[in-house]
Amino acid sequence: MTYQVEIAPSILAADFASLGDAVRAVERGGAALLHVDVMDGHFVPNISIGVPVVASLHRATQLPLDVHLMIENPERYIPAFAQAGAAMISVHQEATAHLDRALSMIREHGCRAGAVVNPATPVSTLSEVLGTVDLVLVMSVNPGFGGQKFIPGTLHKIAELSRLRREHGYRFRIEVDGGVGPENVAELVRAGADILVAGTSIFQTPDPAESVRLMKQLASGTLAQKA
Ligand code: DX5
Ligand code: ZN
Repeated sequence: MTYQVEIAPSILAADFASLGDAVRAVERGGAALLHVDVMDGHFVPNISIGVPVVASLHRATQLPLDVHLMIENPERYIPAFAQAGAAMISVHQEATAHLDRALSMIREHGCRAGAVVNPATPVSTLSEVLGTVDLVLVMSVNPGFGGQKFIPGTLHKIAELSRLRREHGYRFRIEVDGGVGPENVAELVRAGADILVAGTSIFQTPDPAESVRLMKQLASGTLAQKA
């Protein structure tokens, strides 16, 4: 069922004064998506970037923008992020009382819709949307900051999603975000992850393009073994 594992560099770990250079580096390395972390200082204890930056990135790259909303009441901002050029928009299960409505809004605005679960939120909370969602994002750190340590206890959720997808013929992709780097690519791919988000392990290295290449190589090597 798995096709190819994609690397989604998270620009949260890049130098915001040279975002264009950061984007070009990961394009060279073969990134499939650009992961954009939006934080509101309420849902998570940090503030990051917003709609204008997404619009600028959209003008600066052909890479699809994978917008991760860590904001309360995400419904309010879905139209603006869609208009700014997001290809995918993901909302936290924990951030809205109306997950189904938020996901429908995302699709109505022409984007792929993702549902996100924090480390303490079980996959079962998504059971009613797994049949329609395009993407499930498993947080492998508590959201809010880059550079945190991968929480191994989240790995089983990737495997569970992979099993549910196989058993029910669902079509969502499985994305993992937080503390991802060359050291855990193999176990994440073996568990069933299709999209690996990585910030620190790409942008905080001397050669971000090479870091993307390395992670891609490790992922395809693992896939080949799995097949
Ligand atoms: C965390 C963000 C992540 C973050 C990952 O709240 O959602 O996307 O940028 O950063 P690293 O790869 O450094 O853990
Ligand atoms: Zn993220």
